[in-house]
Order: sequence, then structure tokens, then C-alpha cells
Amino acid sequence: MNQKANESRKVETLRWRDAGLEMIDQRVLPARFEYLRYGTADEVAQGIRTMVVRGAPAIGCAAAYGVALQAITLRQASRHDFDVGLEMAFTVLAESRPTAVNLFWALARMRRVWQASQQYSVAEIADILLREAHEISAEDVRINRAMGAFGAALLKDGDRVLTHCNAGALATAGHGTALGVIRSAVESGKRISVIADETRPFLQGARLTAWEMVQENIPVTLITDNMAGHLMSQGEVDAVIVGTDRVAANGDVANKIGTYMVAVLARRHGIPFYVACPLSTIDLSVSDGGAIPIEERAAQEVTGFRDCQWAAQGVQVRNPAFDVTPAELVTALITEKGVVRTPNRQNIANLLGS
Ligand code: MRU
Repeated sequence: MNQKANESRKVETLRWRDAGLEMIDQRVLPARFEYLRYGTADEVAQGIRTMVVRGAPAIGCAAAYGVALQAITLRQASRHDFDVGLEMAFTVLAESRPTAVNLFWALARMRRVWQASQQYSVAEIADILLREAHEISAEDVRINRAMGAFGAALLKDGDRVLTHCNAGALATAGHGTALGVIRSAVESGKRISVIADETRPFLQGARLTAWEMVQENIPVTLITDNMAGHLMSQGEVDAVIVGTDRVAANGDVANKIGTYMVAVLARRHGIPFYVACPLSTIDLSVSDGGAIPIEERAAQEVTGFRDCQWAAQGVQVRNPAFDVTPAELVTALITEKGVVRTPNRQNIANLLGS
């Protein structure tokens, strides 16, 4: 069901209303600001797959709510049917998108809570799982604020910060990761301006980052992705900050396609390249970036947009949605536990205390 949002333009990417999940439909922003309502895990998985909700931390929050919704629909069921139904929810949600590890992190956390609640009735377990989903979202905002405070200290008054894709409030439960750093710097009194790569092919930069910044009167300039090198060569970029979908144990960073190109350009021009990275995005089970699964999306995203097709009919297309930036190009990871300069296997292990 479509629900026109009221006058409020507050970015509440996911919200729990009237015993259901509502998510801003990010496919139609900025032309329309509206929420879609979700009542089952299948629907949430579909919302993730079709990019109603996107951005690594927001996907994790949505998946947690998907599990909780499934448990709620099964609260009158027998223990056996509850267990079978919940397993199905975990499976369908895990298959929704492959690259952002926050999805699997959130599902693993929900599974641990489920397993630790076996002494309770299924109705009580449903309540416990819903509380955990709320907590994952609330914690995400706290983490983003902590990262924001650490990251803001890296920026100088007057900095012009280039970002790629959308790692803002819309990509999280609130505040954002990369844009959270910018928001925190602005809140601390620094004059920061943003250069937003439009981010072909899905246009998260043009449609979402630009919209978020305009909403808050943070100065933002939109460029097409192929303009970044020129602006850097002209001395118009002071820092780059991006988010991430998965960081490998050696510090390699998977993020939106085009990020690698920006990192190479930043190194060429001596510009710091920062990655805002909640600890939930670090995947120690993946040794280096080569083992991170890269989602390949539909050709139609490259050949056109919505109803308009501009590419020749029948042309072959590649559409990898993410790329990997080698750790050596990353100036620092900004996490909720502090800033990790020159990320590598050792200092990431130290950060996670392993
Ligand atoms: O395909 P998307 O829009 O889900 O990709 C999002 C990104 O690549 C973000 O930069 C990343 O998830 C970090 S969001 C805080």
C-alpha cells in the first residue's frame, strides 16, 4: 500500500507503524517522497532486491525487521511451524542481495537471539525478535553519530568533500555513515561543501545524496562520475569520503561501482580517501577483496532509466553493482571505535580485538 508522507521531510528510512514496517521508496526519490508498507519477510526481501531500501546498514535493519515480521505472523503457530516458517524467512532474506555484509550480520544476530530464546513461547519469541530489530536500528544511529564525531575531526573548516553513491541517512537507520561525517562536521560549526558523484547507473548520488544535502541546506554540487578527475586536477576537492558494503580482513573495501576509480584518482592527486565503516561492515571471514561477492544487476539499469532506453537494442551489457578498492589506496577507515589509518590485516585485527 502506498502512503503519501505528510509535510514532514524528516528522513526516517525505516519506521515501525501500526504493527508493520514502513520504508521510504528510494526508487522514486526525489520526485516523490512516500512510504511503502511491509507485512512479511517475503515482502521485505522483495523491497531489498528491488532497491526500495538500499545501503548496507539500512539493508541490515530491514532484514532484521523481516525476521521479526515473519515471527509475528507465526505467533499463533505450533513450535514446529514457527521454526519452519522462520527458517524460510532467513533463507529468503539472505538471498535478497549478496554484497553488503550487514545483511548477513543482522540475520546472524537475529538467529542468535532466536536460539537463545528457546525457553519462551513462540508469541514471546516474536516479541523478543521485534525488540531486537528495534535495537539494531537504534544502535545503527548511535554508531553513525560516533563515527561522525571521529570523522568530523579529520575535516577542516571550508573543506570540499567528494562522495560517491549515497551513504547518508537513507542508507542507514539515520544520520548516515559518509554523510554522517559531513553532518557531524557541519553540526560542529565547520563550513563543509559536498561534491556528489551522480553514481551511474542507479543514480544514488544525483537522486539521494543531492536530495539529502539540499533538504538540510548543506551546500552540494552534483557532477557526473567522469568529472571527478578534472575537479581534482583543478584543486577543487580536499577530501573524499565514501561508505562501504564490506571490508575484507586485509582492509580491501567493496563499495558502489566507481569507488575504485575515485580512489585511484584521489591517490594520483594526493587527496585523502576516507571510508566510513561501522564494525558490522568488516567481514573477517573474507581474507581479501577478491573473495567479496559482487552483485551483477539487470542490463536495463545500464541501457536506460525507467521508461527511457538510450542504448542500442541488443547490445551486450555488464552491470557489476560494486567494485573493490585495495586497502593501500585507503587513507583511513572511520569506525565507531576510532580512526584506523593505513588499514591492513594487523590494525583491523587490533581494532576488532581478535
Ligand atoms: O546498491 P546500493 O545503493 O545498496 O549501494 C550502496 C553503497 O554502495 C553504499 O555506499 C554503502 O552501502 C554504504 S551505505 C552507508
